[in-house]
Amino acid sequence: MSHSLRFSTRISSTLTENRLTELASRLKNEGRMVLNLAESNPTRCGLQAPGVLEALALPESLVYTPDPRGLIRARKALGERLLCKPEELFLAASTSEAYGWLFKLLCDPGDAVLVPKPGYPLFDYLAGLEGVRALPYALDYRHPRGWAIDIDRLLLDAAREKAKAIVLINPNNPTGSYIRADERVRIVEACACLGMAIIADEVFLPYALEDDGAQRSFGGESACLCFTLDGLSKLLCLPQLKLAWLRLSGPEALLAEASARLEIIADAYLSAGAPAMNALPSLLPAADGFVLSLQKRMQENMAALRGLFEEEGSPYRVLRCEGGWTAVLECPRVDSDEELALGLLLHAGVLVHPGYLFEFERDGYLTISLIVPPEQFRRGAAAMRGYLDGLLSL
Ligand SMILES: Cc1ncc(COP(=O)(O)O)c(C=O)c1O
Repeated sequence: MSHSLRFSTRISSTLTENRLTELASRLKNEGRMVLNLAESNPTRCGLQAPGVLEALALPESLVYTPDPRGLIRARKALGERLLCKPEELFLAASTSEAYGWLFKLLCDPGDAVLVPKPGYPLFDYLAGLEGVRALPYALDYRHPRGWAIDIDRLLLDAAREKAKAIVLINPNNPTGSYIRADERVRIVEACACLGMAIIADEVFLPYALEDDGAQRSFGGESACLCFTLDGLSKLLCLPQLKLAWLRLSGPEALLAEASARLEIIADAYLSAGAPAMNALPSLLPAADGFVLSLQKRMQENMAALRGLFEEEGSPYRVLRCEGGWTAVLECPRVDSDEELALGLLLHAGVLVHPGYLFEFERDGYLTISLIVPPEQFRRGAAAMRGYLDGLLSL
């Protein structure tokens, strides 16, 4: 008798590529030129932090001295930058991994966490891999004010589902919205009251595009249990180094236990690599200057996008973007987002992401990476405008 093996339902049984990825691979195989305005891998955008190879070549990295929280010299350097004690910090290989640790720390299988929608789809997968339910909470857009969390709904859902954590992406990807001061007050209060934690993902925090001082970190928030995540992946555009950190804060009574439990999880993986941890003290001093230069590139790209799409009476709109690496273009709904993106790729040779990948409420949104080199960005955005205008005049 033969038995078929049943895999875990953590991985969905539909393993096919989406149509856009399929088309992009086909065009690549055919040698067709594509202007990739969906590129969010900084190492393919000509972005290079200074002194990386030198920082990695340290003899200390030839020795293995495991510490579940991460090497102390790295945590000390980070603590100086974040103005916190090394004991408040844990190092991991990536923020994605840190999410996994936090879901293990806070949730049993079947428990719920709340994640923003529209949002980056990664968090649903990360939660699913831990057997955790990721329930969406809505962000609504009002022009020109921007995005805001439907806070009453969020707090009602959190209480009803006995959620273990609220994930705040500060600023959110792809909406580019920071958590507002009034939203923060209500969320922190609810978390303290209902026994929920905040997971604040701040990988894009320094990349502000508006000058309104909206970027306030959750690092050190003490009224409820709070985990603030960041890493080299965005701060210095070094995702390949695989080094991220999480900072714990909150009421004394909870902190010691959270920290001891997290240490057990981190000890099971010991995943941050010695070369990256040893390099951190000499890499961090370059971070602010590096962020500034990338911010300039993004501002230039955003200005080009607005210049190309937002003339008087334009049928398009570039949504308000306070920070992060992504712009959102709203277009007339002549077709589904997916068909628009497929048409743009096939006929205009421009790759952008359709809004549905980020669970926008309805069609009519395309997301565009702001970190691509400005010359490529301008050519791609102009080709997009030409193609979309052509569709509108049909
Ligand atoms: C908001 C956000 N957080 C985390 C990540 C993943 O970062 P890491 O490379 O540290 O896993 C991404 C990836 O783009 C992201 O958009």
